[in-house]
Amino acid sequence: MIDPVYKAADNRYDCGMTYRRCGRSGILLPAISLGLWHNFGNVDTFASSKKKLHFAFDNGITHFDLANNYGPSYGSAEETFGQVMKTSFAPYRDELFISTKAGHDMWPGPYGNWGSRKYLMASLNQSLKRMNLDYVDIFYSHRYDPETPLEETLQALVDIVRQGKALYVGISKYPKEAAQTAYSYLREHDVPCLLYQGCYNLLNQKPEKEGILQQAAENGSGFIAFSPLAQGLLSNRYLNGIPSDSRIARGGFLKKEELTAQVLQQIQQLNQIALQRGQTLAEMALAWLLSHKQVTSVIVGASSTDQLKDSLKAQQNISFTEEELAAIRNILSA
Ligand SMILES: NC(=O)c1ccc[n+]([C@@H]2O[C@H](COP(=O)([O-])OP(=O)(O)OC[C@H]3O[C@@H](n4cnc5c(N)ncnc54)[C@H](OP(=O)(O)O)[C@@H]3O)[C@@H](O)[C@H]2O)c1
Repeated sequence: MIDPVYKAADNRYDCGMTYRRCGRSGILLPAISLGLWHNFGNVDTFASSKKKLHFAFDNGITHFDLANNYGPSYGSAEETFGQVMKTSFAPYRDELFISTKAGHDMWPGPYGNWGSRKYLMASLNQSLKRMNLDYVDIFYSHRYDPETPLEETLQALVDIVRQGKALYVGISKYPKEAAQTAYSYLREHDVPCLLYQGCYNLLNQKPEKEGILQQAAENGSGFIAFSPLAQGLLSNRYLNGIPSDSRIARGGFLKKEELTAQVLQQIQQLNQIALQRGQTLAEMALAWLLSHKQVTSVIVGASSTDQLKDSLKAQQNISFTEEELAAIRNILSA
């Protein structure tokens, strides 16, 4: 059967999505963004990837988060996105905020990893081809490279913007001191850092404890949380065992060993609080993040449109009573 031409839902900006300002910038991002790390590679069916991307945009998700090596195989999530870009999203390019990154292992040899100018520039050129794009909205240094002079990595980011291949730049998983150097260098070169991307969720509150959130805000940068559901632990997926189609069972980055007896007990108890709030555990976990005003957006993953539909509902209640917050703290300190 020939696919009908995609037409975005007319009510896409009128179905509950909120847009939050990204640091001190002109950019508003959807409270919920979609990441393509898992579930969009060439091991997944194109039909299901396309369905999720259409569903996301139809529901107000304007920000899609990618990286050069998302798949598997490496590059294939960008290829999937590129096909959807060409066949569905092209008329909507200016309504989309698309990211990619380089910094992790991508191709063999000394120039396909870490933070050299050579790697970042070549990788972005490849990403643009795979995604059928002339430019990305934001390009990230995917991780701090302790061996490459930081100025080399940062100057590559500046030059990428000057070349028109990215409109903004960001940093991901940088330790606090390196992040400060990055904020200052980028600001001094008139390419202020738009976003810090870090792992932040109920089970991993390091960005708050280490002052990364506060530092981003002080430097006028937004903060975007990845793995907001701790790769699915903070959802109903594992409350009663390990489903055969889950990330743990599929042998992804989430390992069985991370579902310890203590974590299981914590998520079961958190689930009780979520139920009392009239939310699923996933909804509550996202709502908790969005209750922090320094969090610009959360990047969820999703293996189905139903999961995405559930996650979007988090926005309906992002306020917590003092009693709920105390009960959550109590569970997590056990
Ligand atoms: N900068 C970095 O270094 C970095 C690192 C990691 C991730 N990221 C970004 O962050 C994005 C999200 O990461 P993530 O996939 O780990 O996020 P996540 O949202 O914490 O986990 C996604 C997984 O949780 C489960 N899930 C999602 N919504 C659900 C719901 N409503 N109910 C029940 N289960 C639900 C699904 O698991 P099943 O697959 O088991 O169904 C899904 O694959 C990535 O795609 C990427 O863009 C960036």
